[in-house]
Amino acid sequence: MKTIEDLGDLRGKRVLVRSDFNVPLDGSTITDDGRVRAALPTLKALLDAGARVVVTAHLGRPKGAPEAKYSLAPVAARLGELLGQPVALAQDTVGESAKATVAALGDGEIALLENIRFDPRETSKVDAEREELASELAALADVYVSDGFGVVHRKQASVYDVARKLPSAVGALVLKEVASLRKATDDPERPYVVVLGGSKVSDKLGVIANLLTKADRLLIGGGMVFTFLAAKGYSVGSSLLEEDQIETVKGYLAEAEQRGVEIVLPTDIVVADAFAADSPHDVVPADAIPDGRIGLDIGPDSCELFRSKILDAKTVVWNGPAGVFEFEAFSNGTRAVAQALVDAGANGAFTIVGGGDSAAAVRLLGFDEAGFGHISTGGGASLEFLEGKSLPGIAVLEEEA
Ligand code: 3PG
Repeated sequence: MKTIEDLGDLRGKRVLVRSDFNVPLDGSTITDDGRVRAALPTLKALLDAGARVVVTAHLGRPKGAPEAKYSLAPVAARLGELLGQPVALAQDTVGESAKATVAALGDGEIALLENIRFDPRETSKVDAEREELASELAALADVYVSDGFGVVHRKQASVYDVARKLPSAVGALVLKEVASLRKATDDPERPYVVVLGGSKVSDKLGVIANLLTKADRLLIGGGMVFTFLAAKGYSVGSSLLEEDQIETVKGYLAEAEQRGVEIVLPTDIVVADAFAADSPHDVVPADAIPDGRIGLDIGPDSCELFRSKILDAKTVVWNGPAGVFEFEAFSNGTRAVAQALVDAGANGAFTIVGGGDSAAAVRLLGFDEAGFGHISTGGGASLEFLEGKSLPGIAVLEEEA
């Protein structure tokens, strides 16, 4: 893959950068700006080199037409604050406003195009439609830099097709993500422990199947744990359950046993009356969740168990919160996992936090990011990387080289 240095002297050149600015918002307030900050090294390097930087990105999943709530305006404002210079926001993606905004850029100046998913061609399954948009994007620039790691698993116009239309290079964030994730996929130092959480087993089926051939231990928390508990024959009350995945999970449990991979499930669960921050709650054994109650976190014994299974690891990957960390009463499991990663890291382990939610959890719970080996900006992208899948946004850059 070519890097930015391979693109030569960029002074006065228009550089189209694909970033991942898909940040969580509360109204127009960004609640976690991790992805914006992660984009800074590449953007600063280009601006320092005197390039005219044009950033394209998406926010949320608009249905191919402009929608005010998905505007990148809050991101333009935050990016301007972090860079310490104005970020011009085009009012459209590749239209008259985008063209005029790019034409007005001086050397070392930066513009952000409006949410690229306002254009239905961005996510089209029809190659010719995506290519048409990619050509219009390419006409706004002289070179392309791919730096939106969180979106490299998407075969979309601004991620994949445009890289075939301009001289292209990989940005600093994608390079760092790939190097860090490779430490876990290529030849991990052992014990290699993976902690999986989050709500849906079905999102993580591929990665679980792959990890059964690679990891030494798999710790399961979050909403997906109830499908595992159900597969063991326990009742799970009103907790989140994917009934159609129970048989698959039974297969995983059997395969793990046969391969000697330890699957660690919580031994106790914090159950509540309802999915609410102030719901009355109790700790119950994992095999005795009462009817009508809903599990929202792993319990204190499980926190200790998970900690002991993480502390002696040499490589730890964590993807998905252990409980509903957004509610203080149900944040202890996620906090315990994060703390165990920090302590394992202090013991010499290489630790990776992957997934938008776990990365946000680490920051929202007040952990120092420096305590982790790598905090990935990718959710689906980091999972697909761990699965060993080819990621279109990276494969296309390798093709170019
Ligand atoms: C993410 O949030 O994981 C990325 O920005 C990709 O978003 P998407 O799942 O909507 O393609």
